[in-house]
Formats: sequence, C-alpha cells, structure tokens
Amino acid sequence: MNETHSDALVFFGATGDLAFKKVFPALQAMIKRGTLTVPVIAVAKAGWGIEQLRERARASLEQHGGGVDPQAFAKLTALLSYVDGDYADAATFRTLRKLLGKASRPAHYLAIPPSLFGKVVEQLAQAGCTQPGTRVVVEKPFGHDLQSARALNQILLGSFDEQHIFRIDHYLGKRPVHNMVFFRFTNALLESFWSREYVKSVQITMAENFGIQGRGSFYDPVGAVRDVVQNHLFQVLANLAMEPPARTDSESIRDEKVKVLKAIPPLTPADLVRGQFSGYLQEKGVAPNSQTETFAALRLELDNWRWQGVPFYIRTGKSLPVTCTEVVVHLRRPPSLYSGCTPQPNYFRFRISPQNEMAIGLNVMDEAELGVGQTNELLASRHAGANEMEAYERVLTDAMSGDSTLFAREDYVEEAWRIVDPALKAGTPVHAYQPGTWGPSEAARLAPPDGWYDPILEQ
Ligand code: BG6
Repeated sequence: MNETHSDALVFFGATGDLAFKKVFPALQAMIKRGTLTVPVIAVAKAGWGIEQLRERARASLEQHGGGVDPQAFAKLTALLSYVDGDYADAATFRTLRKLLGKASRPAHYLAIPPSLFGKVVEQLAQAGCTQPGTRVVVEKPFGHDLQSARALNQILLGSFDEQHIFRIDHYLGKRPVHNMVFFRFTNALLESFWSREYVKSVQITMAENFGIQGRGSFYDPVGAVRDVVQNHLFQVLANLAMEPPARTDSESIRDEKVKVLKAIPPLTPADLVRGQFSGYLQEKGVAPNSQTETFAALRLELDNWRWQGVPFYIRTGKSLPVTCTEVVVHLRRPPSLYSGCTPQPNYFRFRISPQNEMAIGLNVMDEAELGVGQTNELLASRHAGANEMEAYERVLTDAMSGDSTLFAREDYVEEAWRIVDPALKAGTPVHAYQPGTWGPSEAARLAPPDGWYDPILEQ
C-alpha cells in the first residue's frame, strides 16, 4: 500500500440492499486478490450489533458472492467493525472517529440515498474524519436533475476537492464497456468506418427481463432515464463516439467523454417515448398513480464533425423479453448490384452482457443460391467473463487507490443532466406495456428506418 492509498474503508448503508448484493461480494473478492488489507468500518442504523452484520455479510456472499471463502471471510471479519447509529447524531461520528484510530485518509463510501449525503458529509467534517487525503465515494444517480446535481456537488466540495470525489457508475467497471474503447483504438480497421461517412445509425439497448425486484422506494422517484440512461448508457455512448485521448491518464480520457456530451443538444420531448409495465403500480414502494417510466426509448444527435446527422438510439426497460445490453452500429447499405438482392448493411455489434461479444456482420453469397446474399458474423471475441473482476470490485479498488478513470467527473454529470432534463421535465405520457414485450407500441414512432434491433440470446 503506497502513501496515497486509502488507509481505511468506511461504508455507510451497510445493512442496505446495495451492500448485500454488491458491496460484501466485492470486499471478499478484494481480500482474495490482496487489494483490501485495511480496516473496514460499516455504518448503518438498524439496531444491530457486529454479529448480525457478520451474518448479513455471510448471507450476502452465499447469495451474491459465489459462496463464502473461509479464509477470505475470516480476514474480512477481522477487518470489519460496525457503528450502529443515526446519521443525524454526532455521537455516531464520534464513535466512527474512534474506530478509525490512526487511519488518517479513509475512503468514505456513501451507499445511501443522496438526500442523506449533505448530513453525513457535514457530520464527517465536524467529527474530524475529512483530513486531507480522505476520499468520498458516492453512488449514482448523482442528483435528480442539473440543479440538484450542482447543489450536491457544492455539499461535497465543502469538504473534499474534485480529485477526492469518486462518483460511481458501475458500468464503467465492466470489462466489456472498457473493451469497447480498447477495440476501437487498437484496430485501424474501425477508424476508417467510424464516422458519418459510413455509419447510418447506432442503437444501444439495455434490456432486463425482470421488474424492479422490491426496489420500489428507490426506483419510483427515479425511473429508467435517471436510473440507467443518464449514467450507464451515456457512458457506453461516450465510449463509442469519443475521439482518441491524447494520453491514457484519467483526465485525458474523461476530457474526451465530456466533449461527446457537449456535442449533444438537449433531448426534446418528441425524441423520448416512456413506458410503464403493467403491474408496476402494485409494486411495494410505488405511488398509486405513479407516472414513472420503467421503459424509455430515445433518439439523440451528436452535433460534431465526426457524427453530425447520425442518429443514436437508446432503448432500455424492465420486464422486457431478455436481459442483455448490446450496441449495434449499422453502416450505410451498399448499392445493389445483383438483381433481386438488396445487400444488408454491414454492422458492428458489441454485446456487454450477459457475455462479452464483438462481431462484424458481413454479406456472403447464400450457400444454395447464386447471387443471393446472407449475413454472417465475424466474431472477434466471445468472452463468458469467468474469473473477470466484477464491476464493484474494480470501482472500489480504484477509488481506494485514487484512480479516477472509471468515475464520472462533475462536468460530465452536469452535461448528462443538461441533455435529459428538458424532456424529463416536460412530463411526456407514460404508455403501458405488457411484461415480456419490447415496450409500448408507441416506441415504434421513434424506431430507426430499419426498425429496432432486438437482441437475441442463444438458448
Ligand atoms: C443499476 C440500476 O445501476 O444497474 C438497476 O439501478 C439495473 O436498475 C442495474 O438493474 C444493471 O446493472 P447490472 O450490472 O446488474 O447489469
């Protein structure tokens, strides 16, 4: 551990859903890999003791962490301590300060609702837990709109400088998302097609075949656009559209991503279709007459030299037919030379989940008939992701070592809100759709000229 590495990890919201599904599994994985050797202090208000928290950690690893590794779990329990207390109570933070002991530059991970950030950061400062070198790690969505994101940032900047603020977008921790950039900038082949000259349209689809899984109280005030478009899918878009960075340090890469968003005009209400799956209103934590979208389809343009005039389509939803995140970049259709054969456009396909795939669609002559084409794929990679670092492990490891590359910078977050705010605030209608379908029929209004591309999973 070097002298800039965080010397303790404090995580707020330790008894919550995120800790259960993602954080404990990430901690066990970090211990196994040898990247977590410092005290871990969990904080929550549940009326629990350390024994209950350990049991919770054990259950989390059994259900979401690939099982309990006895050695790693023993190390985790040795590193783990717990503060049970109210975030409004200064005593909670005095106890935390005591438990931190000699640790002087902890990473405070706020796995809690953003409405509590202000209170917690203020208390941390008052209790002397924000000395220079301390980091703060916050969850998405960062704010609810541009104005609230700026206000939230002011709160954080009151105690931390930008360099020490880590805004999580776990999509950036996914290897396949990173691989898109690698693939683009290590293959000369791609660059020759990668612009308005050849690209006709880009579609990004993030489909989930499950609903909101009991997360109604989180999801209902948020909705699909704020939950995954403004952050995860814009990051995917930025990876597709960015220029090669001058260097590969975090700021050079993040500079290029911000430039992509700067080129996108605000989303108009006409370019957004929202949907809600039937049955959503009966979910726990959802308002009886909620107008929150569980599906969104949108069309964006990038008004810059490389992309002007190329439509980018994004579609996401809960309770769709499959769980898959996939990008398809369609090239312009070649002219038809053979009578009776209209060649299909070539395409690049990036599958981010459930497994990483990268493929190029090319036309060849049909096996049986002369002069008739069929599209085959050249598969550059099919990676099942075994032994891959899970996204939360990667982002927590990076935050503790101070590498900001995989985190959203404030100017990026603000640009992202600038784009979606006007359409969200317009209160466009929410159309019902049946679970297990590709969203409301109204989404056809926005469909690309050749129709929506629905990912197909092999059985
Ligand atoms: C989260 C969203 O950020 O990402 C969830 O809040 C969504 O609604 C999840 O299901 C998808 O991420 P992953 O890594 O599980 O595909």
